[in-house]
Amino acid sequence: MLQINPDLTDLVSDAASGLFTRLQSKATITAAAPGRVNLIGEHIDYCDGFVMPFAIDRYIVIAGCANGGTQARIADQTFPDTAQLDLTQLQEEGVPKWSNYLRGVIRGFQDRGHHIPGFDAFILSSVPGGAGLSSSAALECAMATFLEGLLDTRLETREKALLCQKAEHDFAHVPCGIMDQFASAFGKANRLVLIDCKSGEPELVPFDNPDLTVVISNTMVHHELSDGGYAARRKHTEDGLAILGKASWRDVTSADVQAHWAALGDPVNRRSRHVVGEISRTIAAAAALARNDFETLGPLMAASHDSLRDDFEVSCKELDIMVEIARKIGRNGGVIGTRMTGGGFGGSTVTLCESRKASEIAVTLAGEYEKATGIRPQIFASRPSQGAHLVKS
Ligand code: GLA
Repeated sequence: MLQINPDLTDLVSDAASGLFTRLQSKATITAAAPGRVNLIGEHIDYCDGFVMPFAIDRYIVIAGCANGGTQARIADQTFPDTAQLDLTQLQEEGVPKWSNYLRGVIRGFQDRGHHIPGFDAFILSSVPGGAGLSSSAALECAMATFLEGLLDTRLETREKALLCQKAEHDFAHVPCGIMDQFASAFGKANRLVLIDCKSGEPELVPFDNPDLTVVISNTMVHHELSDGGYAARRKHTEDGLAILGKASWRDVTSADVQAHWAALGDPVNRRSRHVVGEISRTIAAAAALARNDFETLGPLMAASHDSLRDDFEVSCKELDIMVEIARKIGRNGGVIGTRMTGGGFGGSTVTLCESRKASEIAVTLAGEYEKATGIRPQIFASRPSQGAHLVKS
């Protein structure tokens, strides 16, 4: 029942074939960038919090080559149309809609003074879209890495991630934090990317215990983050901080939130309680993980989910059902901790479990979820993997 993740080597060769079939070009540059899953620290990357994602072993691959002209011709496995971009112009939003992430990244390079020569490219993905696993950050980071190859230049990893975040802000209109692009850009095999979102410092934390498996359960329920719910949550946190009169959420205690409960008003008071609680839970979770203290880690993940459901209100019925099923399996059944992951309003849960029970857990999650909702979920294990990189052709 646990799906096998497609091998990156196969994706790379399929992308080269796709480029040839769709655009009759031969790949000379191939870039790959992963999606991410977040273990804990949700909706606090834009609140100076800590987050603990890792780059998953599912990638967006872009295979391409220079075409000697001034146009980009870009095809994507998922869409029948080919995007044509005039590279003599500064990129603006355009059609097809899916090309906007790419336009945003190209614009980031143009704003840094790069002249982009014409190129052909084909895009292939093993990151499920709309599943809360950052397929958009993977696409942005893959494009930025492809352009590094095309221009024979390298951006600093942090700068590359920030360029991609700006593309998401300006061209997809999601006012996201830095977690997804940092995880996709900085990810390493066997490492979590623990990010201090105040300093912008990522720390690569070992996560290589073979007895632990991370199971991702895609509920197959999908809401766009660009439809306003995400931006509204971010605004609530900004309003909360202003009412509390602090410069950073790192300076706010839960006593501060309690003392200003009425002044904050609903729902800003509950949003604020989530932020302060989630920051301290994430710090505690990083410490618990470092000492293999799973009895502490599990309840922290549970409290994170409950807070996202009740106070931050970004969960949904299906995510709650998936979490409840994993909770019922419980510690004796091999589940260490479980919660929704990513922006929410649909998407996936993350379940940390004992490796020897992972397959059995996946069977129960899939069966019980389908029984309860009538929806067949997608369930796969994932391990921390290499971040955005150029693949040798
Ligand atoms: C989305 C955003 C991230 C982060 C998460 C919630 O994935 O892109 O920046 O805010 O939601 O933790």
